[in-house]
Amino acid sequence: MAQSIFLDGESLVLPNAIRQAAIGVEAPDLTGLSSAEAELALILQLAIQQFVSGVEPSMTVARLARSLHDMRRALHPAVWDEIVPMAQSHPVAEYLLQDPLTAWSFAKPRGYSGDAHLLDFIYGSPEVQADIASASKLGRGIYNYTVNASSSVAVRERRDILARRVDEFAGAGASPIDVLAIASGHLREASLSKAIAAKRVARWVALDQDPLSVGLVARDFTRTVVEAVNGSVKSLLAGKHALGMFDFVYAAGLYDYLPDPVAIRLAKKCITMLKPGGTFLFANFSPETDVDGYMETFMNWRLLLRSEHDMARLATECARGVDVDVSVWSGSNRSVVYCEITKKLEGQGPYR
Ligand SMILES: C[S@@+](CC[C@H](N)C(=O)[O-])C[C@H]1O[C@@H](n2cnc3c(N)ncnc32)[C@H](O)[C@@H]1O
Repeated sequence: MAQSIFLDGESLVLPNAIRQAAIGVEAPDLTGLSSAEAELALILQLAIQQFVSGVEPSMTVARLARSLHDMRRALHPAVWDEIVPMAQSHPVAEYLLQDPLTAWSFAKPRGYSGDAHLLDFIYGSPEVQADIASASKLGRGIYNYTVNASSSVAVRERRDILARRVDEFAGAGASPIDVLAIASGHLREASLSKAIAAKRVARWVALDQDPLSVGLVARDFTRTVVEAVNGSVKSLLAGKHALGMFDFVYAAGLYDYLPDPVAIRLAKKCITMLKPGGTFLFANFSPETDVDGYMETFMNWRLLLRSEHDMARLATECARGVDVDVSVWSGSNRSVVYCEITKKLEGQGPYR
């Protein structure tokens, strides 16, 4: 069931669906599994010893995450796939799940990976402070690692980049701009935007499939230009929303779950919603991220990673026959890749 929901872009993104997309359906090559098991056992036992002997928890988890990253990188995906549940059922999980961020990700209380409340642990939002305060001392120590891990730093930078791009686009034109956030979560970037306060944003539509997140946005941004919309990639592709045209459309924390065919269809759709001169931005975690092993095991949070090359290839696919400029770049620690597709103003490009 998860597979069909995932492939049609409805969301409810579960790790198995990502796994199937990553390793395909061929018979797995499990050469090297027994030595990988032995290596895993050593790594996890060392982590327990360090927790018990009072080593600074953030240092213990940093070392563990580095080892898991190296293992993931060295192993055949099918072998890594066998390793993941072994790690998850190891006694070290009892220590790691004391971190409220790891525990929320692993438990998936909303029924899918990467929900907006999880992101709030990364943003340090007021909503999660009670959970952090009531965690054990060890749990808070581990959180000190997970909230400062390169992936978390990159997610906060992503939020800041989105707010900055809105402000830049809003500052560039004569009239207030229309913005669409797809998979908006709690739309935390809107609180950082100066343009919204300066009345340079005419509409900021925030679309998400999770009614709880949509409700939170509606509550937090009541009597502002923000419009919270309950909708999914699937309903968007099916043309079920008459949202209008936009100067800036973006999707952050979404493409990491979309296989290429859905990713391309969504990008094409977004380009059709751009006014001339408008920009579509999408972000994706990159294979250069170094927390992937920890995320996939103890957070049970699998992502489809894309390189700058992969993003450029997607952009080429979805912009075929449309007159656009494409720009691809990485965030400062290279954990997240960005792609911007800008529709040229009429009469500007080679297709005139
Ligand atoms: C990792 S969060 C990112 C939230 C926000 N964009 C941010 O960067 O903080 C992913 C969000 O995508 C939403 N989502 C996942 N799949 C979706 C889909 N197919 N259609 C619409 N929203 C989706 C989830 O409900 C969740 O709020």
